[in-house]
Amino acid sequence: MDQMLIRGGTPLVGKIQISGAKNAALPLLTACLLTDETLTLSNVPQLADIAGMANLLGQHGIEIGLNAASGNGHTLDLKAYNLTSTTAPYELVRKMRASILVLGPLLARARQAKVSLPGGCAIGTRPVDLHIKALQKMGADITIEEGYINAMAPQGLHGAEIVFPVVTVTGTENVLMAATLAKGETVLVNAAREPEIGDLARCLVAMGAEIDGIGTDRLTIQGKDRLHAATHSVIADRIEAGTFAIAAAITNGDLELVGARKDCLKNFLDVLSRAGVLVEEVENGLRVRRQEPQLTGVDVMTEPFPGFPTDLQAQVMALMCVAEGAAMITETIFENRFMHVPELARMGANITVHGSSAMVRGVKKLKGAPVMATDLRASVSLALAGLAAEGETVLSRLYHLDRGYERLEEKLGACGADIRRVKAAA
Ligand code: EPZ
Repeated sequence: MDQMLIRGGTPLVGKIQISGAKNAALPLLTACLLTDETLTLSNVPQLADIAGMANLLGQHGIEIGLNAASGNGHTLDLKAYNLTSTTAPYELVRKMRASILVLGPLLARARQAKVSLPGGCAIGTRPVDLHIKALQKMGADITIEEGYINAMAPQGLHGAEIVFPVVTVTGTENVLMAATLAKGETVLVNAAREPEIGDLARCLVAMGAEIDGIGTDRLTIQGKDRLHAATHSVIADRIEAGTFAIAAAITNGDLELVGARKDCLKNFLDVLSRAGVLVEEVENGLRVRRQEPQLTGVDVMTEPFPGFPTDLQAQVMALMCVAEGAAMITETIFENRFMHVPELARMGANITVHGSSAMVRGVKKLKGAPVMATDLRASVSLALAGLAAEGETVLSRLYHLDRGYERLEEKLGACGADIRRVKAAA
């Protein structure tokens, strides 16, 4: 397995192109199931999770063509002309939980789907009960047998009012996609408002869907008989942008994040500003550098959008490890998203966990050490700490990192980071 060797202490200076958003591209890829015409997606990031989704769609019979990579990322032509299977098998779903996003589209298009329950992951049990309840309310007959969700809707789905008791991102996406082909009107109440959902909704409208309330927590969809071909560019990845903003701050550098958008990161950028980081809008993105020589600890609580994103919690914790004073970081979305804490402690961080809150007391310097990635965002948090630490950090289990960060060492290395990927001794 590969390892990342990082020698910290260099302020990062330069420009980084932000890639297309993983969490927008994944539902956008499954949207191709809703039509027998071609869906063309541009600015698709080249990530392990995207390859995983393409593999899953391929076994449903989707033809995926790779256009000349125009501009950033890949351009893919997806054609669900001839569905050969409506089963998403366990061996594929367990590797990539977002596979659950084929459930709604398959049910809407093919009126049946057999999708493996995704199972839990490192950060939590990750249930999909809200996806299932919503689709049942839309007329699907769903049973759980031998670890599979067996869903049938022989008469097709019908519209319904769906009230989500908990904000769920992929739950909103699954039901939104299913509703575009349901008979009649569907209203989603307490829908997730993450920018990736707005991006999906805009693509669905381009495909002929009728959706009102995009960007709000109430979505109204008038079902159509069919959707048609469309071309859509994937929105920039706000989580990648936030990650690199922290890379600038933690190394006392000066980075221009090309493609980053302030409106998708307002709460996060407010935390950075209170910590002593200057973020300016520039022509094609955001410029990030320290406003004060010393960072200041700031309390953080993760919440659904537009609150502070849980996917930036591990990264901001790395920053707080070297800030002056204390920061209370509270994780309200997932029950086990502090696995980066013991690894950061190996680097000299001073963090105490009490239930869903972690008290971080800033230290003058972190020290490089061998550390282990446990999940996607924890892994990049350790890389950020390594960029600021004295000495060398060796990050193992890089497959976690590769799920969500495209060419990380290349992007950081181009801005002066002493970072390289090596093959670990077997
Ligand atoms: C999406 O996961 C993202 N993944 C996650 O990003 C992100 O952390 C999460 O939303 C929250 O923003 C993708 O978009 C592919 P949820 P998702 O359903 O949809 C509970 C990353 O690092 N819940 O919004 O699975 C659930 O337990 C990944 O890129 C139910 O109880 O998250 C959690 O406490 C990690 N029942 C809360 O809702 C359900 O049926 C939010 O989960 C569904 C969810």
